[in-house]
Amino acid sequence: METQLDILKKKFLLEIENSQSLKELDGLFLQMFGKSGEITLFPKNFSKLEKSELKIISPLFNQTKKTLAEAVRKRRGEVKLADFKKILQEPLGLRKISTDSLEKIKTKKRQGHTHIITQFEEEIIRAFSKLGFAQFDAPQIDSDTYNFELLNIPQDHPARDLWDTLYIETSEEGRVKSEEGENLNPGKLLLRTHTSNAQVRIMEKIKPPFRQMILGRCYRYENTDARHEHTFEQFEIVYVDKGLSMANLLYLSEYFFQAIFGYDVKARLKPKYYPFVEPGAGVDGLCIFCKGKGCKVCGGVGWLELAGAGMIHPTVLKNGGIDPDVYSGIAWGFGLGRMLMVREGIKDVRLFNSGDLRFLNKY
Ligand code: PHE
Repeated sequence: METQLDILKKKFLLEIENSQSLKELDGLFLQMFGKSGEITLFPKNFSKLEKSELKIISPLFNQTKKTLAEAVRKRRGEVKLADFKKILQEPLGLRKISTDSLEKIKTKKRQGHTHIITQFEEEIIRAFSKLGFAQFDAPQIDSDTYNFELLNIPQDHPARDLWDTLYIETSEEGRVKSEEGENLNPGKLLLRTHTSNAQVRIMEKIKPPFRQMILGRCYRYENTDARHEHTFEQFEIVYVDKGLSMANLLYLSEYFFQAIFGYDVKARLKPKYYPFVEPGAGVDGLCIFCKGKGCKVCGGVGWLELAGAGMIHPTVLKNGGIDPDVYSGIAWGFGLGRMLMVREGIKDVRLFNSGDLRFLNKY
């Protein structure tokens, strides 16, 4: 049996040495170590052997296996290197070109560009920076407290139904605590439903008077269709000073509509309920398609509702540590997608997050 093994070993070592390609080596490997490979099956007669014989053949067999596997590994390296050297020597078949003709080859410009929403964000920031508004960031994963409670929307209040909310399960241990053991994210965690979650945060961080703006992603538990998305962008301003009124709010609305629609769009305010403003307003812009005559887009009304706004509720100001007898505030916000749909005539809100290049390349 020993000689059998030796013959097998010598035969394979020679074949490995002579192989010229990786494919050949793979074949050899299978021939030896495959399911019914010659080496694999070799021990099948070991059971007939005497103990003393087995003691000799077993280690020899293991050694042979190792030697052969190592030989394949080594040969693979050699073959790879030889192939590589061969490729290096092959002529690439490139035409020689003079530097004159190089100048004539036009390089293709890079095709990528920012997303339409990002472009719009930059437009908005430019418009409001001119009026002295600074950017503020609030978290997209937030507590019930900042997204609802401090905004005068208590637990179990029917006004909660205005926002279909995506809640996040957190265990008691999962909550972040301060060194004193105080809950830093008390209550349930959720994905913010609006940028208004920044309102009280701003008041806590910045002394009035201030002008701040918030931009960013918001989330709602929506059944999506052409007018509803679960993930979308909102913009909002929070403006706190002495003696602000609805007149300032109307001015800001018209200023903004004119900045982004490019001409004299009138704005009007109509009463609308939001728990964190009083009075609350729906902000309409004169329909940019029919200029107020009434058309299909505005449903014959002549106006389009473009934003939500109002004077910040005294309770909310108090929650942010601001005395409502001294200061008043304006909050004003809208969804970027909705506004762009009007301006660009986009029919389906789902296109924004679709990644569809036919849509994205248009802007
Ligand atoms: N946060 C409100 C919403 O998402 C919009 C709003 C902003 C309303 C500011 C009033 C003031 O529906």
